[in-house]
Amino acid sequence: MGRLNGKIAVVTGAGRGIGKETALFLAGEGAKVVVNDLGGNTDGTGGTQIADEVVEEIKSAGGDAVANYDSVSEFAGGQNIFQTAIDAFGGMDILINNAGILRDKTLFNMEENDWDQVIAVHLKGHFNCTKPFVSYIRETNRMDCRIINMSSVSGLYGNFGQTNYGAAKAGIAGFTRSLSFEMAKYKCTVNTISPGAATRMTIDLIKAAGRDVDVNDWKQGPQQLAPVITWLCCDEASDVTNQIIHVQNGTVGIMQQPAVIESFLSEELWSLDQLDRVIGNLVETKKNHDSEVQKKAEPKKS
Ligand SMILES: NC(=O)c1ccc[n+]([C@@H]2O[C@H](COP(=O)([O-])OP(=O)(O)OC[C@H]3O[C@@H](n4cnc5c(N)ncnc54)[C@H](O)[C@@H]3O)[C@@H](O)[C@H]2O)c1
Repeated sequence: MGRLNGKIAVVTGAGRGIGKETALFLAGEGAKVVVNDLGGNTDGTGGTQIADEVVEEIKSAGGDAVANYDSVSEFAGGQNIFQTAIDAFGGMDILINNAGILRDKTLFNMEENDWDQVIAVHLKGHFNCTKPFVSYIRETNRMDCRIINMSSVSGLYGNFGQTNYGAAKAGIAGFTRSLSFEMAKYKCTVNTISPGAATRMTIDLIKAAGRDVDVNDWKQGPQQLAPVITWLCCDEASDVTNQIIHVQNGTVGIMQQPAVIESFLSEELWSLDQLDRVIGNLVETKKNHDSEVQKKAEPKKS
């Protein structure tokens, strides 16, 4: 008996990498899975029906899955992906918004199309796939659904050469925070994942940083994400919502969310001289806070 028997899941960008591993794991726990992927290159160009291979793998292991090749970047694509779940399995309980591309360039060299395509696949893609699902949840009063969104340290910390990707990934964390409030009434949890794994998207970057890559090592490969994402879809995770879970190098962590950590009050309109002192104090508090958090985040044995 799997933990997700009877559940229906959609995983976008599930033809390879993190999405594929997640689709296989969800199916292993008994979920019926829509394997969406347009099968393009890392920059979003081209397309092949690689979703079929994942469907075959799930079926040959005794699971149930169906392929979909729509692009998450189109509003109609999001609707078709949702409709695939309804037509094939008669419902939907879980959405993993995972599809992604890269167009890394500094803003000096970035063309309008590099900006638009990355925002369209990541940020608008989350909207396109989530909108029909949440409408369905409200119309049918379907309770206990799950939405998992894929952010990145590039958006949460920032990264050189990724203003388009970083903006989209930070936007996805914001999308999660607001949506988690809207979906609470339906006991639908909404969480963000911050992944780190060697996939075709990152292997060259890891190698360029001088590190060896072994995708068969679970602590490096995309397979480390699959059980964590799957756990968030289980009944045991019903109280876990509006969180950012970080998974990398065999660790599972939780990220802090934006919050005011110190403040000062003035009785009169702030003077620049006052601010010379106050902002200096705030920045000092932030540095101390960051170093305490960094110490606390050192991995412990589970
Ligand atoms: N690998 C990492 O370390 C890492 C780090 C941070 C964030 N992420 C995010 O995790 C997600 C998965 O990345 P991955 O590393 O597995 O990359 P990947 O390139 O291996 O897989 C991404 C999949 O998305 C598909 N895809 C791209 N555009 C699509 C579209 N418009 N519609 C449908 N499918 C589309 C691709 O065909 C591909 O199969 C992405 O959102 C990525 O930004 C990954």
